[in-house]
Amino acid sequence: MNETSYIKALDSTAKQTEPAIRKTLEWLRLPKGSKVLDVPCGTGNHMKWMLEAYPDTHITGVDIAREHVQYAKSKLNQAGKGGSCQFTVGDMNNLEFDNNTFDLVWCCDGLWPGPKEVGCPAEQPYDILNHMVRVTKPGGKIAILFWSSQRLLPGYPKIEAALNNSDYALRPWSEKQSPEMHFTYTPVWLKKVGLNNIQIKTFAADIKAPENQLEKEGLQLLFDMFWGESEAQVSKEIWKKFKNLTNPRSDEFILNNESYAGILTYTMYTGIVP
Ligand SMILES: C[S@@+](CC[C@H](N)C(=O)[O-])C[C@H]1O[C@@H](n2cnc3c(N)ncnc32)[C@H](O)[C@@H]1O
Repeated sequence: MNETSYIKALDSTAKQTEPAIRKTLEWLRLPKGSKVLDVPCGTGNHMKWMLEAYPDTHITGVDIAREHVQYAKSKLNQAGKGGSCQFTVGDMNNLEFDNNTFDLVWCCDGLWPGPKEVGCPAEQPYDILNHMVRVTKPGGKIAILFWSSQRLLPGYPKIEAALNNSDYALRPWSEKQSPEMHFTYTPVWLKKVGLNNIQIKTFAADIKAPENQLEKEGLQLLFDMFWGESEAQVSKEIWKKFKNLTNPRSDEFILNNESYAGILTYTMYTGIVP
């Protein structure tokens, strides 16, 4: 995916992810004046929602993709939030900030361990987490979030289960990696880098029938993102049905059902820096 399509993907799926992320932010109860690092900041959606929830916060957004950073910057400026945030193009493997700088490090869908070729920042999470610990103040918090599940094919649980069992849906984790490299081990990662008071909390968002073309495209993108290349690992019948359910030209197109309803969840793992 090129950077323009990646930006479009992040923004057109934001409508679906926004309720879960906003609930997560609310649950964090950030103290006034908190200094936050959002890494990777992507197209800046979370920075915008964080500043709406906590206007006194100072947020630094870091992403390795210059295009994402530029796009995020103009989005925050347009929203009138530019004064409370700054941006850096940078690699999360090498956070160029002083020790003890931030009250919170927020890292959403960024710490997937795996091969760099598929967009993962590192094969293992520990070096990056140690950098995060270094730049966080004692008593500060590290919040690692992952998109943790979805139900997007209402009425077709067996088809969805079969698709979810494919290597493509499970990437970047693969059976070549140890179980410890799957995101569900995040509490172990946080413990290993010395964090205290580790907590896990999952937030859901309900997905309703799309109201316009952009929302429709956002959901189609999700179908493609999760299962677009799962064909080799499911039966012919399942693949055919999946294609019919997700093809806008098919009579069975699932998003034409005005009662369409899906679910997605984000899981947040937090720990306190000693
Ligand atoms: C799935 S997006 C998540 C963005 C944002 N946190 C969100 O949830 O909307 C992953 C982002 O990680 C960035 N990225 C990948 N490798 C990185 C690295 N080594 N350092 C910093 N950012 C990286 C990509 O450019 C992309 O913007």
